[in-house]
Amino acid sequence: EGPRRYLIGGNWKCNGLYDENVERINVFNGAGAIPSNVDVVLCVPYIHIPMALSMLRDDIEVGAQDCGNNTGDGAFTGQIGAHQLKDIGCTWVIIGHSERREGFGMAGEPEQLCAEKCKIALEKGLKVMFAIGEKKEEREAGTTMEVCAKQLEPLAAILNEEDWANVAIAYEPVWAIGTGLTATPEMAQDTHADIRNWIKEHVSEAVANAVRIQYGGSMKGANAVDLLKQPDIDGGLIGGASLQEDFFNVIRGVP
Ligand code: G3P
Repeated sequence: EGPRRYLIGGNWKCNGLYDENVERINVFNGAGAIPSNVDVVLCVPYIHIPMALSMLRDDIEVGAQDCGNNTGDGAFTGQIGAHQLKDIGCTWVIIGHSERREGFGMAGEPEQLCAEKCKIALEKGLKVMFAIGEKKEEREAGTTMEVCAKQLEPLAAILNEEDWANVAIAYEPVWAIGTGLTATPEMAQDTHADIRNWIKEHVSEAVANAVRIQYGGSMKGANAVDLLKQPDIDGGLIGGASLQEDFFNVIRGVP
């Protein structure tokens, strides 16, 4: 057991019709115990949040996959505000997922915007899984930590030291997301250690020691144990495998 509680997040992305996601929740409700050293949060599509809040077992928190950059009500067609997520009962939100940074054909989200959204979410009382990570060509060019640092810089600039108590960093190498290619445990550990060290130098040693760094990218039951036993890997953010009961093999893969 490490010095930090583990944090396992599920990210359902834009998957599932209503009945399918009800069924997934029923499966999770019957999937057995969650170890006491793990926090679990499930980020479902916005439209299924109320259903998840009413149906999902109490030892799994419900989160959103993004929120707007608006600080309250207003003329922001199509946005969901952090204040609304908090009001309805969400406790977590993912900010800066690489798919949103990239934009899937729409305008992507720049680094500064991700940092601002994180600050707003924290101000509204949500906890944040802040996603960062490099693309394949950046890993190959040896610039992984430069890319991560560029994503972390605006965050470190905008957050107070106290804000960090409610932030986890989700390190998701883009080339590993949904591809079946996982970073090896050693590769992931090295980058997690670099990220923790960056936080030590640019925020504080106390924050670096306390902040949870999750790994994301083709994580599943079969590889979770080896990833989670690395000293700087404090959990995971799971996409595809979180749509299945295998999510619980990840949860139970913690040391
Ligand atoms: O946010 C989780 C994610 O991007 C990883 O997705 O499907 O590779 O587990 P997946």
